[in-house]
Amino acid sequence: SVVILDFGSQFTRLITRRFRELGAYSVILPGTASLERILQENPQGIVLSGGPSSVYDESAPRPAAGVLELDVPILGVCYGMQYLAQQAGGDVKRAGKREYGKADLTRYGGQLFAGIQGEFVAWMSHSDSVTALPQGYEVVAETEDTPVTAIENTQTRRYGVQFHPEVVHTPKGGQLLANFLEICGVTRDWNAEHIIDELIADVQAQVGNGKVLLAISGGVDSSTLGLLLARAVGEQLTAVFIDHGLLRLGEREQVEAALKPLGVNLITVDARAEFMGALDGVSDPEQKRKIIGREFIRAFEREARGLGHFDFLAQGTLYPDVIESAGGAHGDKSGAANIKSHHNVGGLPDDLNFKLVEPFRTLFKDEVREIARLLGLPEHIRMRHPFPGPGLAIRCLGAISEEKMDILRRVDDIFISGLREFGLYDGCSQALAILTPIQSVGVMGDERTYSYTAALRAVTTDDFMTAEWARLPYDFLATMSNRIVNQVHEINRVVYDITGKPPATIEWE
Ligand code: XMP
Repeated sequence: SVVILDFGSQFTRLITRRFRELGAYSVILPGTASLERILQENPQGIVLSGGPSSVYDESAPRPAAGVLELDVPILGVCYGMQYLAQQAGGDVKRAGKREYGKADLTRYGGQLFAGIQGEFVAWMSHSDSVTALPQGYEVVAETEDTPVTAIENTQTRRYGVQFHPEVVHTPKGGQLLANFLEICGVTRDWNAEHIIDELIADVQAQVGNGKVLLAISGGVDSSTLGLLLARAVGEQLTAVFIDHGLLRLGEREQVEAALKPLGVNLITVDARAEFMGALDGVSDPEQKRKIIGREFIRAFEREARGLGHFDFLAQGTLYPDVIESAGGAHGDKSGAANIKSHHNVGGLPDDLNFKLVEPFRTLFKDEVREIARLLGLPEHIRMRHPFPGPGLAIRCLGAISEEKMDILRRVDDIFISGLREFGLYDGCSQALAILTPIQSVGVMGDERTYSYTAALRAVTTDDFMTAEWARLPYDFLATMSNRIVNQVHEINRVVYDITGKPPATIEWE
């Protein structure tokens, strides 16, 4: 593997992503991780990431003693390069001006750039620069503003780049990282088939003859986990899908049709009446979320107890939930679980005594999607937009009722099916319909109507922390509006949400 020591750069995760895309397994550890911790990963190469600090700051984070002496290639990126240079006896100073953005390399060569040809555009973001080269190092790239843009010491196999090869703005950065893997002698066999084989072997070793319980939400992570566990332990798995009545049109049937034929022992629990009862008259969004979370635990616990004893609880926890980075560890390798709120199994009582199985702890979402493809999860589930745990309840503003949920389900289905039909679905990160409590006057035929307003929302985003409203074509919106008012008689007005996040959130509640 390649170990990436994180010194706080916003791009650190991208380095891991790039290596994995190149077929090499890599992990992120905090920049100050102990030597022992690093050695646990059997590193064949180490990357020192960028970061906001200056190497001459007293408080700058530094790798543990002994890391630089390891007999493996080390690549320093930005801050990492400056640290390597300074430790080897070179000099680092504040540059005359801050260099930010794209820069053309005026010259490049050496092992890191082997086989790369033509212009090389590099993404820069630094205020310090290496001003005096340490002994044994050679400058292998420069730009107009930065004479020392890349360095190498082929004897000790220490390499440094001032720019960020991991970002898309450095188009040939991937080739450079591939060269580093080559230097490290890392086998590039980390692909989905390989991952599936390893995960199945790991699960079998962990679970043995034990019984495993899994909550299926209908999303890609838990569905894929269901398929993987069915392959690994077959009938020892029981997957429970709770129908809380807040699902989309036909969702329950779709999940059943996707998983049962592939050998997942799936039990559907009809808990619609309980959820509806508990939510009766509740209009506060946070209150709704709490009640849904509580009811979910109740239903799941009752089912778990009714089914007999289980040794393991499986969860679809992903790598971003547990990453140990300079930004603060969210979990730890020893298994203190970081429970995803939307799986809602975090509040299960201790006496159920579950041990956790979390095969996806080392994976990113797109790796799970790739595994899903190989395991045969249908495309419409595999590439589905995220859907919140509280479901349509937080898209029906205010107090919900059976009738309102039914209206919303039909509006949502017309909008989402329309997006798919017009080839717009994959271009949006998330799309949703909202049933507002607004009633307004309209006219249909010769009749005056007084009905609800539905809102449509579609966004594009990378991380769901910020989002842009999707610029859907007017003609498409017109078609959706027509279909909705014609097919859903309780609606006489359709609006499209043109607010970004911030200031609005993606969901309306
Ligand atoms: P907001 O509305 O905060 O949503 O911009 C960001 C993302 O989170 C999802 N979301 C939730 N997911 N339980 C969930 O599992 C929730 O209570 C919840 N609230 C929002 C939302 O769908 C979007 O993808």
